[in-house]
Amino acid sequence: MKINANKSATFSNKAKFRVPFGTVSITDDARELIDRALKTKWVTRGKYVQEFEEKFARLFGVKEAVAVSSGTDADALACAVLYDYGARRQDEIIIPALTFVATGNAVLQAGFTPVFVDVSRYTLNMDPKKIEQVITPRTRAIMPVHLMGKPAAMDEIMGIAKKHKLYVIEDAAEAHGAEYKKRKVGSIGHMAAFSLYAAHIITTIEGGIVITDDPRMADILRSLRNHGIEGKFQFKRVGFSAKMNEIEAAIGIGNIRIFGQILSKRRQNLLYLIEKFKPFEDYFITIKEEPHEKIGPHAFSIIVKEDAGFTKDEFVRYMENAGVDSRNLFYSIPTQCENYAFLGKKLGDFPEAEYCSDHGTHIGIHQDIEREDLDYVAQAVADFLKTKR
Ligand SMILES: Cc1ncc(COP(=O)(O)O)c(C=O)c1O
Repeated sequence: MKINANKSATFSNKAKFRVPFGTVSITDDARELIDRALKTKWVTRGKYVQEFEEKFARLFGVKEAVAVSSGTDADALACAVLYDYGARRQDEIIIPALTFVATGNAVLQAGFTPVFVDVSRYTLNMDPKKIEQVITPRTRAIMPVHLMGKPAAMDEIMGIAKKHKLYVIEDAAEAHGAEYKKRKVGSIGHMAAFSLYAAHIITTIEGGIVITDDPRMADILRSLRNHGIEGKFQFKRVGFSAKMNEIEAAIGIGNIRIFGQILSKRRQNLLYLIEKFKPFEDYFITIKEEPHEKIGPHAFSIIVKEDAGFTKDEFVRYMENAGVDSRNLFYSIPTQCENYAFLGKKLGDFPEAEYCSDHGTHIGIHQDIEREDLDYVAQAVADFLKTKR
């Protein structure tokens, strides 16, 4: 099935990579809206941003959506809302050790201290059994990440949050369209932050959005995205400059129209590749879908098993030479990112996250990847394994 949009860009050189990591769909109706915005010269936040927010909220079945300039800003603004709910600077927000570094950076940018919890290599997500150990009197929120679009353990997380009177901010940057026990990911916590960066299912090229069912939180988010403005020109909070513009919103409106097609193509690709990797189970742990969930596929994670007999680097190099682009499966932020050394954690403190990083990679399964490309990937893996026997 071809998506009804012009293929405009891939994230890597198509000449070098037969199977590129990411893609972006820009629809013809988005081009028309962009032209109109340019003609009227109303290009900063206006009616298209509002339309995009309303459509996004409707898609997720929530009351409010507030568009901002990136997924990182979406995370940071959602955290900063908590200052209106009794939080103080340096208070703690619990996040998984394994995630894109933006999650940790956003917590710091909002003035909080990130406190990390290890993940499971089988789910890639925060291990709920380890959360209560790190709760202190300064903890204000838990921010689970639905990595690769696989839902975090939301029942357990919401239960812990309720018991300890904490807020839950879902980092759903990579999880558009994912479902957990028939509920849309992003509609379960108090707020959820999405990235609209080009690699994601709904994109505005650069951008982010926070959704919530709480109109007060939404008003605070609107204030925070414009330096804490309230009324015409009063500044009530320490805010950010994180507004979305009309051009970005126009692309987002086009993407919402084809959201169902993009999601279903990505899900077909995910489920097909899970099947294709079954013969390689002795060597790799790959992302899996459990009966209680629907993954909103961002990419396909592949972790080399301990006794596989080869390294992740050997595997990635082979695949890259075969034209399959990939990215590392992130890092254990507190122990593998130098810029977090100030937290005083040491290698070995987050063994599962460190394992995923040292042994894991992820490859594209986006809407411009066809079944024959996935057959090609599986054949390349089989050929690689032959070289190791
Ligand atoms: C888990 C996670 N959180 C936050 C972000 C930040 O999003 P952005 O790149 O739009 O700032 C990303 C980016 O993809 C992400 O993967």
